[in-house]
This record gives sequence, C-alpha cells and structure tokens, in this order.
Amino acid sequence: MLTLVQQLASQIRQQPPESIVFFVGAGISVAAGIPDFRSPAIGLYASIHEMKRFRFKSPTFVFEIDEFMNDPRPFWWIFSRLWPKTEWPHPTDFHYLMALLAEEGIVSHVFTQNVDNLEEVAGIDQNLISCAHGTLNPCKCLKCGHKFPLSEALRQMTVNFPPKEDYEDVIPPVCPNCGDNHVKPEVVFFGENLPSETFTSAHEYIPKASLAIISGTSLNVEPFASFPKMLKENSQIYVINREKVKEQRGGLIGALHLSSGYINYEDEKCHFIEGDLQETARQLIYELGWDERYQALKTRIESIEQTQTDS
Ligand code: OAD
Repeated sequence: MLTLVQQLASQIRQQPPESIVFFVGAGISVAAGIPDFRSPAIGLYASIHEMKRFRFKSPTFVFEIDEFMNDPRPFWWIFSRLWPKTEWPHPTDFHYLMALLAEEGIVSHVFTQNVDNLEEVAGIDQNLISCAHGTLNPCKCLKCGHKFPLSEALRQMTVNFPPKEDYEDVIPPVCPNCGDNHVKPEVVFFGENLPSETFTSAHEYIPKASLAIISGTSLNVEPFASFPKMLKENSQIYVINREKVKEQRGGLIGALHLSSGYINYEDEKCHFIEGDLQETARQLIYELGWDERYQALKTRIESIEQTQTDS
C-alpha cells in the first residue's frame, strides 16, 4: 500500500508537460523565518491581537489601505516583526521542490500569495509565477508615485530594530523624492486590486491543469481562495498543510450554503497530506529520486545568493 506521498510522487511521474499548478501561501516561507498570518500564537495576526489597543480591531487592519493612509505606523510596526533586518531570507525545501518540478517542465504555473519573491530566488522562471498579492520590492510613494528599492526603506527602518513594543514609537520611512511618509511596498492591501496579469494567468492555466498542489495557505482571502474552483472536474488536488482547507461540509439550509468549502476530501481525486509541509517536500524529493538534484540546485542558488550579498 502506497503512502499518500508515494502516491503523489507516482502521479507527478506521470504528468505531461505543463500540467501542474501550485497555490501557495505564507506557510511555505515560515521555515525561512517569516511568520505566517493565521497560525495560533506565532502568526502575525496573533501578535497584533496581543497588543491591548488593537484587541478589538480586526487584525487585518494593518494591511488595509484606508488605515495605512490614515496612519502608516501600524503597518511598519508589524513589518519590523515580519521581515529580517539584514539579509533577504533564503528559499525553503518546499520552494526547491517547486523549482525542481519546474525544471522538469511539468509545472504550468505557481500562484503565490507571498510577497517575499522566494519562488524566483529558488530558480523558478518568473514567467511561471503569479505574485497575486504583489511583492515587497520595490516600494512606492503614494503621494508622488516615486518607486525605490525596499533596501532604502530598510535602511531608514534601522531605527525600528529591534521591533518596538508600541507602534507609536515606530518611525515610518519617507519618500527619497518628496519626503512624504506614505510609502509602501508594492504589496496588495485589502481594498486594492490584484494585478490584472494574475487573473489572466488564472484563466489561462488553472482550467487546463491535471494536478493541483495547495500548500501553506489557509485559503481565507478572496479572490485567491476561489482560484482552485477553476480547476476542471477531473483534476487531482493535493492539499499539503497542517489542516484541511476549504472543506466542503454540511448541505444547504434553504438557499444558504453551510460553508464556503468546495474541496470534498471524501472524493478520490482530493487528497490531504497532513503535517509539516517542509517534511513532506523532503519526502517527495526522496521518493522522486531527486536528492542529488536537490543538493545541486540548493548549492547553486546559495552561491548566487552569496555573490549578490558580496557585491
Ligand atoms: P495564513 O497564515 O492564513 O495560512 C498559512 C497556512 O499554512 C495555515 O493553514 C497553516 O496551518 C499552514 N502552515 C504554516 N506552517 C506550516 C508548516 N510548516 N507545515 C504545514 N502547514 C503550515 O497565510 P495565507 O493563506 O498565505 O494578504 O494568507 C493569505 C493572505 O492573508 C496573505 O497573503 C495576506 C493575509 O492577510 C494580504 O495581506 C492582502
């Protein structure tokens, strides 16, 4: 009897070119030192909730554009907890697994909610990636439109490390062009639209995919959360996560659906690989017989990262 990981490895071996889509989120970057949003106790939203004065606010307010225009300090306060101060974080084994599959030519697209760019750092061609929630680099001034590298914002943010206890003590970076303090990384805030290319790619690649891998995401945020609904009827779905997401439950009360879930885990084409997704990634690499390729890719990427740090 095959384990679920062995079963997935066998499915992967049978995939025709450009037939796998990934839907990923913050969970795949936790091992890179970037907290996710909704994990109890360690997620970013838990740390916002811990702060007394924010207790009665929805923790997503730090990523709401109206709140940011009103006061950019809460965003930069949470940013100082989110982002390592000195160097760009490194890809995780899950990123390398995606990159190895992409090298095989069997990945049609990676839809990511992450803004850390680690999919590309791991060696995935940027044409295969849709950063649905934007990227941290560059930053943009919302007053004059000037764009500048995140490294400049980080340079100014040095005064805020180690992270301040109170958000009121945070000094937000200012635009190097006009001096205004409404500068923000080009990430998509609540109340802003996703990049239009993300929708174009979703319509192009999702309906054609025969295998979808959903990982490191709670699939709580629309419209991304509904992207897997565009999969064709008979495509295989593997959810690699700590908990099941978008589980189809209950039935209908009148015209009301009891849950927004659309993944029927009882169905033979939907599979749930529970547990640490990095562990699953390493097992998959092993089952695929790619341990040496993985080591070679990791060494190559680490030396590129080293060269960039040195220059
Ligand atoms: P969440 O924090 O909502 O979900 C992360 C998921 O990854 C959870 O289901 C965790 O259990 C799981 N997870 C974390 N570490 C794991 C591990 N080592 N092994 C297995 N599972 C693990 O993050 P996202 O779904 O990415 O948007 O959040 C979506 C969006 O909400 C973000 O892009 C952000 C946020 O508000 C905006 O700010 C617009």
